[in-house]
Amino acid sequence: MIRVIAIYPGSFDPLTNGHVDLIDRGSKIFDELIVAILRNPEKDPLFSLDERLEMLQAMTLHRKNVRVDSFEGLMVDYAMRVNASAVLRGIRAISDYEYELQMALMNRKLEPRLETVFMMPAEAYSYLSSRLVREIATLGGSVKGLVPDMVERKLREKLHSEVKPKLEHRFKSAEKG
Ligand code: PNS
Repeated sequence: MIRVIAIYPGSFDPLTNGHVDLIDRGSKIFDELIVAILRNPEKDPLFSLDERLEMLQAMTLHRKNVRVDSFEGLMVDYAMRVNASAVLRGIRAISDYEYELQMALMNRKLEPRLETVFMMPAEAYSYLSSRLVREIATLGGSVKGLVPDMVERKLREKLHSEVKPKLEHRFKSAEKG
């Protein structure tokens, strides 16, 4: 019997309810789903890799065919290393389509054995993105219902301990200068 292993790659900075929805859907159709966090040395993420791993692990613990990992470099190389034959990506709206199509076709060119599978999250999450969650949370807005409770709590802690003091420092420097 063929076991289909899929990877679900992304930045997950932070994990949203849209991601969780997609993980749930993916875990129902694939034998094994590996949520793979990109380690990108060029990006300055809000949450460290360890923090993202911890949150994703906690949120997927109940799904026995889901595991969480991280990768660096080309996604297709990582997929081959873990014997994946599919890549799961979410499409929220038409606006996602162009970028996702380009990436899927480029990945196919790089590795024809790997198939990209698109799934749609629940409509309730069609306008949701990690970028907007970061922006809303940084500006003091509520992200309740958009991210898991654990992520909401971690966002609040992070903003109090790291982001807020940095912003205050920047405002003070601007006032002086
Ligand atoms: O969460 P994101 O930013 O939508 O995820 C994008 C991701 C991680 C899937 C993409 O940037 C990626 O696969 N990066 C790894 C480098 C790579 O393989 N690049 C070639 C893409 S065609």
